[in-house]
Amino acid sequence: MKGLVLSGGKGTRLRPITYTSAKQLVPVANKPVLFRVIEALRDADIDEIGIVIGDTGAEVRNAVGNGSRWGVKIEYIPQEAPLGLAHAVKISRPFIGDDKFALFLGDNCIEGGVSSLVSGFATSDHNAQIVLKQVANPQQYGVAELRHDGSIERLTEKPRQPRSDLALVGIYMFDQHIWEAVEAIKPSWRGELEITDAIQWLIEHDYHVHAHIHQGWWIDTGKRADMLDANRLVLEEITPHVSGFVDRDSQLVGKVTIEKGAQVINSVIRGPAIIGEETRIVNSYVGPFTSIYHHCTIEESEIEHSIVLENSEIIRLPNRIEDSLIGRNVKLHTSPMKPKAYRLMLGDNSDVGLL
Ligand code: G1P
Repeated sequence: MKGLVLSGGKGTRLRPITYTSAKQLVPVANKPVLFRVIEALRDADIDEIGIVIGDTGAEVRNAVGNGSRWGVKIEYIPQEAPLGLAHAVKISRPFIGDDKFALFLGDNCIEGGVSSLVSGFATSDHNAQIVLKQVANPQQYGVAELRHDGSIERLTEKPRQPRSDLALVGIYMFDQHIWEAVEAIKPSWRGELEITDAIQWLIEHDYHVHAHIHQGWWIDTGKRADMLDANRLVLEEITPHVSGFVDRDSQLVGKVTIEKGAQVINSVIRGPAIIGEETRIVNSYVGPFTSIYHHCTIEESEIEHSIVLENSEIIRLPNRIEDSLIGRNVKLHTSPMKPKAYRLMLGDNSDVGLL
């Protein structure tokens, strides 16, 4: 089987971070979500992967490269406009050919990977396979209605009044019959060719679409709260290691990873947490569910349940930071300048909660 990863889209719900960067490259536990997707496919023995790219294509290519780092071959498929998931599939036909393939949305994070899903589908006579997960807010997703025997009655994209709480996870498997479906469907009300409609077309034309209900966690990392949830869940899973320097006045409690070249001086880090390469934590507290990416500085400050991207500085803050997603090259510090005032340089759509 081949892999097809979608890494376009505008990431509007993660602005301002996504003004300058692809949403799929925001790290969860210090690794971009997109890298986790590639690793999940590689672990399922898929070694030919196509990545559909859009406006952020150059950055994605730059970060991912040719795949040799993971022992896979990666090909890029530019999509000229975000015309929908089924459109992305349609333009990938020359890459896929007549092979079966797994389609994986590059911002989805799933517990346990996809190995058993891929091997199950590869050896089955199903024409397609979808993955479903019970959620509290089904109207934000594609929704499936199942019959008592587990077969699919109907799929609807973002219904106003969902008739079930089973959301379509962004992981799908197809055989060559998907080509007929993506040719046959028309754009939805939002002007996109919906993959949900293509699968509904397969069902209506008596193709066998298998529904797998996923029991572990699944996160579509489109928003800040989802990124923080994914970060929390992945941090709990990883096996910690200390490759950086921790001085004698510091304390690491629980699952704490200190990456190469990082320094922890006179600080307390309570896991699960990860401190990235060349980052310095000085006279500070880093609390549970926090990922500080590479080349950051945290000095005389406290932070918990947050993600900090590369090259950022947090210095001498009087109050603890919580539930925050802090971008690249951000400087957050108190200043002795008079008069006493907040002095801000914030990007469009920033969201700052001050005490
Ligand atoms: C897409 C699909 C939707 C699916 C979701 C999973 O939504 O259209 O059916 O449930 O991914 O992440 P979108 O991210 O385009 O809003």
